[in-house]
Amino acid sequence: MADDTTDTKSSNQMWGGRFASGPDAIMEEINASIGFDKKLFAQDIRGSIAHATMLAHQGIITTDDKDKIVHGLNTILSEIESGNFEFSRQLEDIHMNVEARLATLIGPAAGRLHTARSRNDQVALDFRLWVKEELQKTERMLTGLIAAFLDRAEEHAESVMPGFTHLQTAQPVTFGHHCMAYVEMFGRDRSRVRHAIEHLDESPIGAAALAGTGYPIDRHMTAKALGFREPTRNSIDTVSDRDFAIEFLSIAAIAGMHLSRLAEEIVIWSTPQFGFVRLSDAFSTGSSIMPQKKNPDAAELVRAKTGRINGSLVALLTIMKGLPLAYSKDMQEDKEQVFDAAESLELAIAAMTGMVRDMTVNTARMKAAAGSGYSTATDLADWLVREAGLPFRDAHHVTGRAVALAESKGCDLAELPLSDLQAIHAAITDKVYDVLTVEASVASRKSFGGTAPSEVRKQIAFWRARN
Ligand code: ARG
Repeated sequence: MADDTTDTKSSNQMWGGRFASGPDAIMEEINASIGFDKKLFAQDIRGSIAHATMLAHQGIITTDDKDKIVHGLNTILSEIESGNFEFSRQLEDIHMNVEARLATLIGPAAGRLHTARSRNDQVALDFRLWVKEELQKTERMLTGLIAAFLDRAEEHAESVMPGFTHLQTAQPVTFGHHCMAYVEMFGRDRSRVRHAIEHLDESPIGAAALAGTGYPIDRHMTAKALGFREPTRNSIDTVSDRDFAIEFLSIAAIAGMHLSRLAEEIVIWSTPQFGFVRLSDAFSTGSSIMPQKKNPDAAELVRAKTGRINGSLVALLTIMKGLPLAYSKDMQEDKEQVFDAAESLELAIAAMTGMVRDMTVNTARMKAAAGSGYSTATDLADWLVREAGLPFRDAHHVTGRAVALAESKGCDLAELPLSDLQAIHAAITDKVYDVLTVEASVASRKSFGGTAPSEVRKQIAFWRARN
């Protein structure tokens, strides 16, 4: 697919009627979008076939011309798919590259295809179709990631790990519960994707340059043929709107933020100091100098890709914010942002899905860490409230003293002798030891959405039914 960059000075064959000479080389370079919008070839051809079919149905062009156009467009589709199409930068963009080739293939009938449309509604159509397909793909990929987490959560519904706040040991939780937190996050991302598909499901074609057209077109017919719910309702908005692209980018940015938090946890968990998980060889790399190392490069790159995605969102918001209605050429800059973010997001979801599926979970390390750091202190306080009738604030204070004592003795709460505990508060009995283990702690947290294995299993069942 060689780009033809020769600078001939003849005027543009598509719109050059009023121009005496061709563009300056720099003009051509800044103006051309074919380098990236050739990605839209399939959508462009599909849109043109639907448009030509509608024109013939409405008697605006003859059936004979329509047949030639459709045949020619299908030929171009296979030429591009097989790599036998020469894209030309002089022809600016995908729309004019396809139309010029059509003219070579079928002659004058090609000139009738652009009746009752403009590149403004054409590009809005092509790009919407592309973003819609990308959103559908994102939905499937998120479903795969959610499934990976559901499997790990099921496997580890009872595995105890430390739960953190401020990255300090807080209370014991189960690894299954922690996995289900990500299911909630990616589940929200998936529902944002579904809403975005609904929002953009309107066909722009037929808005023409900005004002609609005097030809008796049927926009409902093209909308239906292209799989849209209905046509857009305002021709000015149609050609000046890029909300669908910005929505895609904001969804990608939020999902990217989730993926990046997961990546960060995996980076931490896989350090020798934590040792909670071991990444598979398939998702880690070695060091060229330190033979002992196994680096979580894929997780780190997922964390970094999020920066690119955020950049794309801010770029497109900034491109759009000052534009008067309707179309301005600034809008041509929308595509690279979306294409780049889509590629990053796909890679990030795929990498995280693989990592989550493949990683080895070290339940012994997790359990040992869960018991350290006085993680069952809240359980002691709750026991004092429940069994000894103390107000929670007093129980908190008593527990604080027990923690301080354990700390000074260099032992866990559960290792303090009963006499020590009773010296702090007389109401404490040996029954207290039942709640000081991490297993008892997690099993007791049966509140809706809590970390008890029984609750985690309920949430797994909920999400499995929801898929
Ligand atoms: N390549 C252009 C874009 O991506 C197509 C629309 C051009 N429209 C125009 N009035 N020049 O936005």
